[in-house]
Amino acid sequence: MASPTSSAITLTVNGDKHELTVDHRTTLLDALRERLDLTGSKKGCDQGQCGACTVLIDGRRAVSCLQLAVAAEGREITTIEGMADGEELHPVQQAFLDLDGFQCGYCTPGQICSAVGVIAEHAAGWPSAVTEDVRPEAGPPPLTPDEIRERMSGNLCRCGAYVSIAQAVARAAGAESEAVRETGEAA
Ligand code: FES
Ligand code: FES
Repeated sequence: MASPTSSAITLTVNGDKHELTVDHRTTLLDALRERLDLTGSKKGCDQGQCGACTVLIDGRRAVSCLQLAVAAEGREITTIEGMADGEELHPVQQAFLDLDGFQCGYCTPGQICSAVGVIAEHAAGWPSAVTEDVRPEAGPPPLTPDEIRERMSGNLCRCGAYVSIAQAVARAAGAESEAVRETGEAA
């Protein structure tokens, strides 16, 4: 029941609507994990540093540990549980699987959600901190290994699976040949 410190909200997660009453201080990550049993999003640091909790909100990546659940009402939230289309994995999931883009797997849901966001941001022409030509008319920069690493730099991996993660992102983005050409080897 709602009180001065709580509110009844409706969260739309992976296309499903969930009605719940949450304390105003409840993070989106805690609401997903503790209230909706969507435990794919992981809690690493709980302070916006590691990216393990990354989800998509209205198609854009966000660290759910820094979002309040009440602020997510009315938004389309996509978690790792909503990435696959039935039995068919999302291309980013498939690339992580094919190229061993993980070891223990703890960071992987956040890495995959972030990669989906990265690919969309790049396709939309967003520059990164390592993009040389940031003029709007320049269009999307080549998705080089440096671009991938910079754009994925908010997602830490304690297992150090970065080489495979970068390869998987490149493959899912269709930029694998670009990455190979630049380095003379895999990204
Ligand atoms: S748990 Fe959210 S960024 Fe680390
Ligand atoms: S695969 Fe273990 S933390 Fe990334």
